[in-house]
Amino acid sequence: MPKDEFICIGHRGASGHAPENTLKAFERAIDMGCPWVELDVYVVDGELLVIHDEKLNRTTNGSGFVEAQTVEYLRSLDAGDGEKIPLLAEVIERVKHRCKINIELKGPNTAEPVNALLDDFIAKGWREDEFMISSFDHELLAAASPRIKRGALFHKHVDSMFERADKLNAYAINLAQKMTDTEIVAQAHEKGYQVFVYTVNTHDEMLALKNMGVDGVFTNFPDLFPWDKPKQ
Ligand code: G3P
Ligand code: MG
Repeated sequence: MPKDEFICIGHRGASGHAPENTLKAFERAIDMGCPWVELDVYVVDGELLVIHDEKLNRTTNGSGFVEAQTVEYLRSLDAGDGEKIPLLAEVIERVKHRCKINIELKGPNTAEPVNALLDDFIAKGWREDEFMISSFDHELLAAASPRIKRGALFHKHVDSMFERADKLNAYAINLAQKMTDTEIVAQAHEKGYQVFVYTVNTHDEMLALKNMGVDGVFTNFPDLFPWDKPKQ
């Protein structure tokens, strides 16, 4: 990615405008011009489901732990506005090259099924660079396919941050907004990493991060993104 690009990543889709992690939210993000969407995955009976929380209560009309349910039950739920919890395969099919997809490994044991699914899509004509795999769980991320860009997620500063990213052969470090400053961005760039920051939901904060040299932001509100202003 050229250094002067600043990209908008629809966080759980355009989740400020449609129920998070649903096909509707991904469609909205694409309509709003996002070159990337981000989503979270769990695996249940070998199926990859797109949902953020380990429990169903907040985002669906179901209850209990995602991983304790059958796929049939999970697919019967309303994830908002009558939308189903999507399968990862469904999202990739629906997006169909209109934007790139950052798959965050949220549930345990998700690396292998994601690798297998992406291999299938790549065999069907999708490009490797249409995807990024990220996780806070760096052991899990280490099992992600080396064919696909890796984003090492951090929610707080750790001294070993760059060591971890190096070990993972990461493409990007994906940082919480509160831990992001000019110094960390400069260090990351010096070491060859892209820097993406979550979750940034005001125009002014997006501009401030852009001026720090950040390469992109995850946002629930892609309509607030400074689409037309070059990085300063
Ligand atoms: O990948 C960025 C962001 O999604 C990480 O936090 O909790 O929203 O998945 P969370
Ligand atoms: Mg996420």
